[in-house]
Amino acid sequence: MPQALEQLRVEVEACRGCTLWQGRANLVFGVGNPQARVLVVGEAPGAEEDAQGEPFVGRSGKLLTEMFAHAGLAREDVYIANILKCRPPGNRNPLPEEIQACTPWLREQTRIINPEFIVTVGNFATQFILKTDLGVTKLRGRVHEAGRFKVYPVFHPAYALRNRNTVLPQLEEDFRTLGQLLNAKGA
Ligand code: URA
Repeated sequence: MPQALEQLRVEVEACRGCTLWQGRANLVFGVGNPQARVLVVGEAPGAEEDAQGEPFVGRSGKLLTEMFAHAGLAREDVYIANILKCRPPGNRNPLPEEIQACTPWLREQTRIINPEFIVTVGNFATQFILKTDLGVTKLRGRVHEAGRFKVYPVFHPAYALRNRNTVLPQLEEDFRTLGQLLNAKGA
């Protein structure tokens, strides 16, 4: 990990901005290519991520990693992080005060990595990055803007796993479109 991200990780390890650090096994800072064109932002670590200290390594993560191939990407090509860096108990939804406390770290990661695309995974990441109340269903599969970043919302893979016949094909389609956007001239 390059120095700027390594230094940031040390700061995040020591963060006591909310209470979630008390229940974690591991900090889930983020992983991947520090010079990625694509930053993938999920919601929060689950049990498997907490155990391994790495985002998207459980069932959802395995599906997400498969989805990258539809965009011509390997997991190692992108950088993967979450809105929350510590696991909420019982995988409950992030609380507004936790999002407020934790997202300055994501902002700093984004500033260091300086991606071209931010792929927001699910409602929490999409609504935080786009500052909207609209759900991902209305926003998915199209490019939006947040500052200088192209923001591309997709369904959460956990939702696709629960709806294999309907949502999974849409998730695949959205990643194929992302691949086209990445390959487009001038992109
Ligand atoms: N779901 C998320 O949103 N992030 C993870 O890291 C794992 C599951």
